[in-house]
Amino acid sequence: MDAEEDPIDLSSEAADLVVQGDNADVLPLLPDGAFQLIYIDPPFNTGGRRDRRTLRTTRDPDGDRTGFGGARYASVETARRSYPDSIADYAGFLGPRLEQARRLLTRSGTLYVHLDWREAHYCKVLLDEVFGRDCFLNEVIWAYDFGGRARDRWPAKHDTILVYVRERGAHLFDQDRIARVPYLAPGLVGPEKAARGKLPTDVWWHTIVPTTGREKTGYPTQKPEGVLRRVLEPSSRPGDRVLDFFAGSGTTGAVAAAMGRRYVLVDENPQAIEVMRTRLGDRPRFLEVRGAALVEPG
Ligand SMILES: C[S@@+](CC[C@H](N)C(=O)[O-])C[C@H]1O[C@@H](n2cnc3c(N)ncnc32)[C@H](O)[C@@H]1O
Repeated sequence: MDAEEDPIDLSSEAADLVVQGDNADVLPLLPDGAFQLIYIDPPFNTGGRRDRRTLRTTRDPDGDRTGFGGARYASVETARRSYPDSIADYAGFLGPRLEQARRLLTRSGTLYVHLDWREAHYCKVLLDEVFGRDCFLNEVIWAYDFGGRARDRWPAKHDTILVYVRERGAHLFDQDRIARVPYLAPGLVGPEKAARGKLPTDVWWHTIVPTTGREKTGYPTQKPEGVLRRVLEPSSRPGDRVLDFFAGSGTTGAVAAAMGRRYVLVDENPQAIEVMRTRLGDRPRFLEVRGAALVEPG
């Protein structure tokens, strides 16, 4: 059965989804403004070659694709090429996906892009182009302290999370929902304040995923649930829909479910889908992209 016969209705209550496929194929099938929050953690410098397809999609009742709610879209492939995974081509890979991310956000929505120190600056330039500099909210530094230490430079122990809003001023940022952290010097602020803790800043100290324990899935690039909780706390509310289109082990889905949000997760890697099946259980519906439609696997 394809999506034309069985349209995926994103407004339905039971609409947690995990989709296997290239996000370049999946994102055009999702409706405008469907997500309050998008978090992505794209891969970088895998050392291999990538295929890049650039598609332009427009609403068209006679189109070749069926999106959510049964809407029809026509897609035209404007370019296809294979390229080495370098900085210049990384921008070419990510740019069209960031444009889709912007389209998919609600007016009050926020995009969090998780990067490492090697590519953060190139992506900042790209995001400024797609969202506009006014919509740049924060550069969050996630600092950790684990693993080997370089001897010939400062050991690199942080990731960068760039935060952009769809519309500055209209964006949701609910400070009251953020879990407070202990003061570094509680003796300086008095017992009442010390007991309450302080709001975290844009520098987040948080351990990496512990090598043993409930959270560990074995997926190589898995991010800690605590970092995702902090992303979701101010920028989404219970019932809101969250998207992660480089989902990996499904950390965003696990945290979204625990916090009462709904989610759509996309990954092209079958191993990621297997990990998510185990981690997320029966709650989401699993689909894959076949041809130009989202279908049940099999
Ligand atoms: C860095 S990992 C994400 C890890 C994730 N944040 C977690 O906590 O597990 C990046 C993921 O993007 C996926 N990916 C890469 N290119 C993709 C594409 N074009 N479409 C969909 N998924 C893609 C990879 O398979 C990989 O699982």
